[in-house]
Parts: sequence; structure tokens; C-alpha cells
Amino acid sequence: MSAKPAVLVTRKLPDAVEARIAADYDADFNPTDALYTTDELLARAEGKFAIIPCHTEKFTADVFRRLPGSVKAICNFSVGYDHVDTAAAKEKGVIVTNTPDVLSDATAEIAMLLLLGAARRAGEGEALVRKREWKDWSPAFMVGRQVTGKRLGVLGMGRVGQVFAARAAGGLDMDIHYHNRSRLDAATEKDLGATYHETVESLLRVSDFLSIHCPATPETTGLINAETLGLLPEGAVLVNTARGAVVNDDDLIAALSSGRLFAAGLDVFNNEPDIHPGYRGMRNVFLLPHIGSATFETRDAMGFRALDNLDAITRGAEPKDRVA
Ligand code: 8YV
Repeated sequence: MSAKPAVLVTRKLPDAVEARIAADYDADFNPTDALYTTDELLARAEGKFAIIPCHTEKFTADVFRRLPGSVKAICNFSVGYDHVDTAAAKEKGVIVTNTPDVLSDATAEIAMLLLLGAARRAGEGEALVRKREWKDWSPAFMVGRQVTGKRLGVLGMGRVGQVFAARAAGGLDMDIHYHNRSRLDAATEKDLGATYHETVESLLRVSDFLSIHCPATPETTGLINAETLGLLPEGAVLVNTARGAVVNDDDLIAALSSGRLFAAGLDVFNNEPDIHPGYRGMRNVFLLPHIGSATFETRDAMGFRALDNLDAITRGAEPKDRVA
């Protein structure tokens, strides 16, 4: 028997991360990167001390019931952990960790890309050029919404929200408003020039641009729906780099189709990658395939952070990023 703890790695991770795993653990890698079914995952988990999954593997209460007793830790390669039933993990005595901080810059970059791309019609323009449908120029051609100096509502002022707000304030002179479960301390609010709103409704009423940065929880699921979208100023632009579950797709599509919203920039969706078909034909949505954290630097850092957590658990120490 190997002296090293056995670890299941569910997806193909960056080479440097896999090299560190191979050096310190008895690793079961996934070289093809094919998504495991739940049954495959549970079979491979047999005898493993820990699993390093991505958000693509769902750890429901049922999965925890069937999870082999050898599994003591789930060290996610992700900051979001809505794919893990943390109550079921606690009940089973499985430690769960995530990877905060290290992907804030990369995700804020994608939020900025979506904000600008949606407001300035980048996806639409790019498609025109590619399809040879760009025939002429006129003063009214491809006119979009100017972003500079406008009001930005940040829904969920955690790590990513704060980095994005700082970039938007510093780079585009935006006026930052936010709602968060807990208010920022006065110094951080001052640094960001951010105005706090006690309710989501109050934030939405002033948000010419709204960027979603809250986690998917029972409270935030479907939070952006017909009623709340109706509170946004006419012609607002919505950006989502958090989780698709926060948005009701039918209601967002209706608001975009009617022109009530000017545009949306989306990196995350319900039921990825089989997204609501309504988005695909829409002119005023700028769509990306969940690439918020997809930079070489960040993916390495996420892997190392997951391993720092696993190393601590293996030593019997408290991992830095324990969420259950
Ligand atoms: C990751 C993310 O790419 O970390 C997260 O929560 O949404 C993404 O940026 C993905 O989850 C990796 O598992």
C-alpha cells in the first residue's frame, strides 16, 4: 500500500498542479478530462482520502450518502461551492474547501469585458465583420451605451465584486453603488467611493449597469426576475460572472427582447453548457462560455490553493479555506 494519501482528481488540471499532486499524493488523474458520471465518480472515490473536483461535479445529499467512508475531504478547484451540499458534507464528516482570492482579478477582467462588450455591442459587431455583413458606415451604425462616468450597481460586494468595483471606478470613472449581506467597513467604502444600499431593490433602482457577484444560494436563486428587472432604469445593462442560477432566464430574455434592458453580458448560465436556447439568437446579449477564471496564471493559482488546503487537512491542521 502506498504511504501517500490517495486522491481523486476529477478533471485535467494544469501541468504544474498535477506535478505537485503526483509528488505528494497517490493520484488518480483524469487525463482525457471527460466528465465522470456520478456512478463513475463514486466508483473512483473508493479508497480515496480526498477528491479535488471542479464545479462540474455535483455533490448532492444523495452523492454524500453513497460516498465511500474513506473520503474525508473535498478540496474544490473553484471559489463557488454551490455544487456541494455543505450540510450533507458536515453530516458525513467530510471537510470541504474552496479557492477564494486567487481568481478575483481574472473574473473581474471578464466582468469588465462583458460590461464593455454588452454596452458597446462588441459581439454583434464582431459577428457582422466575420459574416461579411458589414456593408456601410453611418452615424447611427452600431451605436451603444457609453460606460464612462455611469452608475454601476454591484450585487454582492465580496472579493470579486470589490476588485471589479475598483477597476470600474479607477478605469472608467464609474459611480459605485452596492448591496451585500454585510456592509463594507468605512475605509473600504471610502476607497471605492461606494454607496451602500440596504436592499437589493434600492440598488437596482439606481443601477444603469448592474454586475452580479453574489454566490448562488437558496436566497439568491432567481433573485433577478421579472419583478426585480422591472426596477432597473430603462435601458440598463446587466452583467453576470457569478452563477446562472441567480437569474431567471425567461424573465431576462423577455426584458432584453422588449428593449427594457439595453443589453446583457453573460459568462455563466443555468444548466451550462446547454443554456436557454433563447439567448443564442439574441442580438443584444454578449455571451462567453464560463471563462471568468480561465487564465494560465489563475488556473495554476487555483490548483495550488486547493492543494494548500489538502496539505493542511492531510497534516491534521485546519485548512485556510474551509467552507464545511
Ligand atoms: C471556475 C468558477 O472555472 O471558481 C468558480 O467558482 O466559477 C470558475 O471560475 C470553475 O468553477 C472551476 O471549477
